[in-house]
Amino acid sequence: MNTARDHVWKKLSLHQDPSLLELFAEDAGRLEKLSTRLDLGEVGILFDWSKTHLTDAYLDEFEELAEVSEFTEMRRKLFAGEVVNPTEGRAAEHSALRGVGKESSVEEAAALRDRMQFLVEAIHEGTLGDVKHLIHIGIGGSALGPALAVDALAREDPLVDVHVVSNIDGVALEEAFAACDPQTTLLAVASKTFTTIETMTNAASALKWLEQGGVSDPTGRVIALTAAPEKAVEWGVDETRILPFAESVGGRYSLWSSIGFPIAIAIGWEEFESMLAGAAAMDEHFRDTDGRANLPLRAAFADQYYTRIRGCQTRAVFCYDERLGLLPDYLQQLEMESNGKSVTAEGDPVDFPTAPITWGGVGTDAQHAVFQLLHQGTNLVPVDFIASIVPGDVLDPAHHRILLTNCFAQGAALTAGGNMSPDGKDPARAFPGDRPSATILCDDLDPATLGALIAFHEHRTFANAVLMGINPFDQFGVELGKKMAQDIEAGGVEFDPSTTALLKAAGLFD
Ligand code: F6P
Repeated sequence: MNTARDHVWKKLSLHQDPSLLELFAEDAGRLEKLSTRLDLGEVGILFDWSKTHLTDAYLDEFEELAEVSEFTEMRRKLFAGEVVNPTEGRAAEHSALRGVGKESSVEEAAALRDRMQFLVEAIHEGTLGDVKHLIHIGIGGSALGPALAVDALAREDPLVDVHVVSNIDGVALEEAFAACDPQTTLLAVASKTFTTIETMTNAASALKWLEQGGVSDPTGRVIALTAAPEKAVEWGVDETRILPFAESVGGRYSLWSSIGFPIAIAIGWEEFESMLAGAAAMDEHFRDTDGRANLPLRAAFADQYYTRIRGCQTRAVFCYDERLGLLPDYLQQLEMESNGKSVTAEGDPVDFPTAPITWGGVGTDAQHAVFQLLHQGTNLVPVDFIASIVPGDVLDPAHHRILLTNCFAQGAALTAGGNMSPDGKDPARAFPGDRPSATILCDDLDPATLGALIAFHEHRTFANAVLMGINPFDQFGVELGKKMAQDIEAGGVEFDPSTTALLKAAGLFD
């Protein structure tokens, strides 16, 4: 156990918390201190954390917590490509894919990116024939990033129509088949390990579909995106159509690598590079900024405050932007697979809550569904609102005005509370207020902004892990269930009575 960390936590838990409105009233400089714009060239993003309970005193102590947690050294190791994943003895070099990291890794990533650019542009130029559709098959980190980015950036006039299929449930693949013509479809098989059962089963079925659709050389239509190129060769993919990436890139951090191939195919190479550049701007900010001015670290301070001091078990993200509808799913994997741990990086059991449950949706839809609990429920849920000033639509500007006013109104209502009854006394109509929210306001949801937004969350997740002393880069928690599924397939293994009965009921076990 890190006793210096425990000592800081003791101090942190002694504060008396004024309400959010009191905090604004007490400190005229609060907004300026906690609302910061990050420029990304032509556009920028405003990160407003002023409607959280962070105070100067908390920030001082959280900075002390970062110091005793060796945040600066851990961040140096991250960008230097040193081991930050001790259980697997690995570095975590996703930032090198954006050009920020150890020199040799940045060079290696650039060479792999050139190879990917060559193939992407060749496809756009028609070298592989008429390509109208791409079915991207992958799961978890090999699917969520591409799905999010394609949905966010390629809704209108994609260069190629992309379908991301992850689930082993054949319904998902059938849906993609129904939307594509086998004669003009390419398959991207995305798997870091090239062994994941869902992906390999879906890929085999997609090959059959191509064959049945009259494609004479189905494997000739496959692009493999993987850190295990030898496995892709064994599977039958020609070396020229394998786009590798480094083993030191974790699955949930891999959309910047060749796993992002469908993004580049849908939006074009320049736009893909612009997404990487936006992420690189966030990398540089995170690498070079100290203390509370560091945006992902500041967000992690608030995350730690709510989880540990206020006992919040969940954190919600509401995107007031239809194009970011998949962001909560993406962040669920990023945050829960990274920080949903019960032991420290040294393997000691933790005696504090680690990652809260990340959940969310899109506004304004969610207002008419789950916001009741946020305003009047007994759970305190810190909320992030994400919106773009420039609309994604060309309809009557009333649409976007109503969208944004609702977004800001929700944050204001959570902060201020009130009573909606005529005499102001009906408890059923009372809103306690003093409920925290942060707002991320983008100038425009362009590729650079999306890149920076995702990188912000990657670094926030890392910063949280460092403050807790846990390893965010392994994910052994996903293994046991996978093994049990294999045991069921293999047969002859005993399970608990309920599982055995379910297997029998489904006809999977005699
Ligand atoms: O089961 C979890 C996981 O290992 C994720 O971490 C990963 O992104 C996903 O499975 C897919 O793995 P792969 O890219 O090797 O197919």
